[in-house]
Amino acid sequence: MNQEEVIQKVAKQVKSKLEGEGSGHDWWHINRVWNNAKHIAEKESESGKDLNMFHIELGALLHDIADYKFHGGDELIGGQVSEQLLKEFNVSKEDIEAVVHIVNNVSFKGELSENKMKSMDGKIVQDADRLDAMGAIGIARCFAYGGYKGGEFHNPDSKAHLNMTKEEYKTNKSTSINHFYEKLLLLKDLMNTKSGKAIAEGRHVYMEQFLEQFFAEWDCTL
Ligand code: ADP
Ligand code: NI
Repeated sequence: MNQEEVIQKVAKQVKSKLEGEGSGHDWWHINRVWNNAKHIAEKESESGKDLNMFHIELGALLHDIADYKFHGGDELIGGQVSEQLLKEFNVSKEDIEAVVHIVNNVSFKGELSENKMKSMDGKIVQDADRLDAMGAIGIARCFAYGGYKGGEFHNPDSKAHLNMTKEEYKTNKSTSINHFYEKLLLLKDLMNTKSGKAIAEGRHVYMEQFLEQFFAEWDCTL
């Protein structure tokens, strides 16, 4: 099986596993991250970066295959499931290792948590995933996730928790509005690539405008 065939087979498996999922990690999130990653990779390779598209595409496709949030906090589960799947398609040990590194280190876990992503390929997937948590789509996902968890979307008595450690972030239950301050508005400054950051700037401004309108409506000043 050539690399393109492996990518298509993995995409098919991921699609059948995550289709219709309701927490904002559905197949369409994966599909957007896959597209974002290819887009950023194209831009970055124009500026001379040596990238491995096989690792980038597989990392994007598998990055949420088994999320720690839905597996009792187990941060290694995504990598293990990915490894198993890639072994079935006879992907080499080196390629599997690179993809597992991406899957295991992609997610944001609190402002104070160190980013352990080492490879440039992984940093591109991370930027692609972060972009999908920003802008209009990020706003939609944030409220979808809040509803899925059954929490309030806003409560003026509940304050955002800033400077959270990984453990605090993992156990924190916040309103959707507080999540903007705990994650979404921080992402712009955490982007790894120049092209990812440029897209993030626009999405950041859009989220700020949304919040301004939201609070004006909440306070009846609009
Ligand atoms: P991603 O797949 O983008 O890494 P996560 O797995 O952290 O994102 O979460 C999925 C989506 O739900 C993201 O858009 C994220 O910002 C949002 N989300 C995560 N935690 C919360 C929360 N406590 N309240 C509202 N939205 C959340
Ligand atoms: Ni994701």
